[in-house]
Amino acid sequence: MSTMSQIPIQYVTTTSFSDQRPGTSGLRKKTQVFMQPHYLENFVQAVFNTIQKDSAHSTRTDLRQETLVVGGDGRYYNREAIQQIIRMAAAHGFKRILVGRGGLLSTPAMSAVIRRQQVLGGLILSASHNPGGPNEDFGIKYNMRNGGPSPERVTEAIYTHSQRLSSYATVDTPDIDLDTLDETVISTILGTTHVCVFDPLADYTAVMQDLFDFDALQSLFRNGFRMLFDAMHGITGPYAQHIFEECLGAPIGTVIRGTPLEDFGGLHPDPNLVHAAELVARLSPDGTERNETVPDFGAACDGDGDRNLILGRQCFVTPGDSLAIIAEHAASCIPGYQAGLAGVARSMPTSTAVDRVAKALQISCYETPTGWKFFGNLMDAGLCTLCGEESFGTGSNHIREKDGLWAVLCWLSILATTGKSVSHIVHEHWQRFGRSYYQRHDFEGLDAAAATAAIAALRDTLPTLVGNSLAGSSICEADDFSYTDPVDGSVSAQQGLRIQLADGSRIVCRLSGTGTGTATLRVYAERYDPQGGNAEPDSMLATLIQDTVRLLELRERCGVERANVVT
Ligand code: G1P
Ligand code: ZN
Repeated sequence: MSTMSQIPIQYVTTTSFSDQRPGTSGLRKKTQVFMQPHYLENFVQAVFNTIQKDSAHSTRTDLRQETLVVGGDGRYYNREAIQQIIRMAAAHGFKRILVGRGGLLSTPAMSAVIRRQQVLGGLILSASHNPGGPNEDFGIKYNMRNGGPSPERVTEAIYTHSQRLSSYATVDTPDIDLDTLDETVISTILGTTHVCVFDPLADYTAVMQDLFDFDALQSLFRNGFRMLFDAMHGITGPYAQHIFEECLGAPIGTVIRGTPLEDFGGLHPDPNLVHAAELVARLSPDGTERNETVPDFGAACDGDGDRNLILGRQCFVTPGDSLAIIAEHAASCIPGYQAGLAGVARSMPTSTAVDRVAKALQISCYETPTGWKFFGNLMDAGLCTLCGEESFGTGSNHIREKDGLWAVLCWLSILATTGKSVSHIVHEHWQRFGRSYYQRHDFEGLDAAAATAAIAALRDTLPTLVGNSLAGSSICEADDFSYTDPVDGSVSAQQGLRIQLADGSRIVCRLSGTGTGTATLRVYAERYDPQGGNAEPDSMLATLIQDTVRLLELRERCGVERANVVT
């Protein structure tokens, strides 16, 4: 432990940046934007101002009694940002600052630490699945006492504070050694701040051990089960090596691309069929490989560890099916859910597969806007146990973030208990519940004004669409999704345009809220076959997509006809 003698608090003059309104998941910008003088500091000051005085509740928080957790996914600028945050947190008199060793902490681990250590909240440095590097993306997000992302009420307050800043408080201290588990004491006129560098794996692993039967999973690997996990050079590498290889005894080499890199090796750390193509190919080789060498199971996580991709041999499990299948098997295969599920939730554009499982289990299924923050209230109120999004996010009430490795452990538990293959489990599910053919088409790099206009124009015509035909079926409902939170009554309007067809198919259109430059327009298509079925999603959904592109006038307005990413 090292102690610094009392140092003065400095108030640095600043002017506000007009673009600090957090999006779907925190504030995300190009790294260069964050590296401008005062940019990061302004946002952090706005967060601290918001925490100190919650005007909505007229409460004040005395930071001298509180602990703040700090960590990120290891991307470029992570360490510098953390050093600045430590200085500013000390200048605000925080009692303790917990920093993940190496400045590392996965998003789900942050949630686990906040909850297990019962602290005020945490700042996560990440732009999730977006690429990292000096010319790529950076981000920052504040998570609250429940371990979850701040709700809109708080993110709006942060934005309001960011617009009113004239100075921020900091101290002039040397960098903290982030790589050694140690404690440093910074003294100011406000008191002493203990900066503790802690093991980022400990709390998270303990939460997983509480939920899953590690002995049963060890036997699975002992009996020769073969898995390949792609950490995509993101934050999950160290967690996956520890849990799969050290705790569960999976062979060394089970985890690939396991070292967190500042630029994710130049890749896009997004675990989907496009960006995890190498892993997909290992699970579905071209026929020249001997079957015994093909893994039984494949999985990947994104840059900050909250997303997951699930693969079997020659088999991709859509995130919507994965959520439904985990819900179906949770009580019988996972000790942490033995008592059954209180309810389930999915974001509105996510496939309706889990709705049918909920019906069979006779539990509620909630439909929320896109973004994990909307699940928090439901889980805090005990209304839902499992939740998920089509964007490769699955999770439960064990924390308040989606959790990539948790989803992998759920699947391992299902495979270990049933003794069946991934493909067998998926086909059984379709036979019992029917199949939702599902795809998301992303039109990236669009001119923001043109994309906004395309959505606005469709929004305006929605009321006139009912009765018209789309992809050979008649439109029976068309609206702009508005959500009233069943717990606090807050309303979130304009959360996506929905078009429901008489044959049970459905289209959703919305603009991404996580981009950092140009706009991304997302078209989600779903078609339900009660018989299950073995068709290719492409052929089942092509007309729905084409007709929607026409409806949005994407060619005329944005000069595109085809999505550049389909997941
Ligand atoms: C995207 C996903 C959404 C997810 C979010 C953060 O947001 O669609 O489901 O919660 O990233 O991972 P979007 O860019 O669509 O606003
Ligand atoms: Zn993520």
